[in-house]
Amino acid sequence: MDEAARIERLRGAFPVTVERVYFGTGSFGPISAPFAAARRAYLDAELSAGRYTVDRYERTAHARARLRAELAAVVGAAPTELALTQGTGDGLAAVLAGLHWEPGDEIVYTQHEHPALLEPLEALERRGLVRLRIVRAPQTGAEDTAWLAAALTPRTKLVAFSGTAFTLGQRLPVAAIVALARARGIPTLLDGAQSVGAMPLDLATSGVDFCAFPLQKWLCGPEGLGALYVRDGSLEALRRDRVTRSWDVFDATAAHLEWLRTEAGWPWLAARCVALADHARRALAA
Ligand SMILES: Cc1ncc(COP(=O)(O)O)c(C=O)c1O
Repeated sequence: MDEAARIERLRGAFPVTVERVYFGTGSFGPISAPFAAARRAYLDAELSAGRYTVDRYERTAHARARLRAELAAVVGAAPTELALTQGTGDGLAAVLAGLHWEPGDEIVYTQHEHPALLEPLEALERRGLVRLRIVRAPQTGAEDTAWLAAALTPRTKLVAFSGTAFTLGQRLPVAAIVALARARGIPTLLDGAQSVGAMPLDLATSGVDFCAFPLQKWLCGPEGLGALYVRDGSLEALRRDRVTRSWDVFDATAAHLEWLRTEAGWPWLAARCVALADHARRALAA
């Protein structure tokens, strides 16, 4: 299918984008026709058959497995490395609450961070569990990480950062940041809220240890649902597991993600998002 025809087809399945230019994805992505159809079918079935049916738990388990497999395909992870959560903040807080801290431990983070990360970080500091060190990442998106290297000390126990800033949209050099931290034996926590679905991201090759991301933004899924990636082998570092009760949207979300994967493919979608963001940046600067 040629590029223009594919874009037309995708737009057709996101009706709001036919009538309007939609700029709200950084908060809430538009929902798709396949998502809406699967939600309607699910609600109609509950309406007529009731919410408790004999196969209810079996169907939920199946939908959960299907959703985790679809999400794994988005971020280049194994399904076993993903836990379903209630959103980005939920996953970020789970990692910060689950890691083991010792007196004098430091966490390094950047000036770009969202309250969903800042609040649990500050809570740890208030309780005297860690010291926080903020670093100023350059605005340019360059691969250089000297600004970060200077802030890492033998006490640094975590580097926590966003792949894309929620404020002005700067892209941070995720691979270079993770490589630097790993070289010093420091785990990394990625806030993927503005990255997953919006830029190419392969968590397996990135080396990142933890990544929290939402469904409702660049994956155009429902609110109140997210995922936490925990690199295989890092799991024992976490003392808590996460679960979400948003069972009723698992099926529709998996159907929507499967449709996007087969209709367009995640590499194409991520490249298209980056190209559109660059286009908008150039147009605004002109
Ligand atoms: C960078 C960043 N992190 C975290 C969040 C919070 O996401 P959630 O609502 O999924 O917890 C947002 C939401 O705007 C965000 O932009």
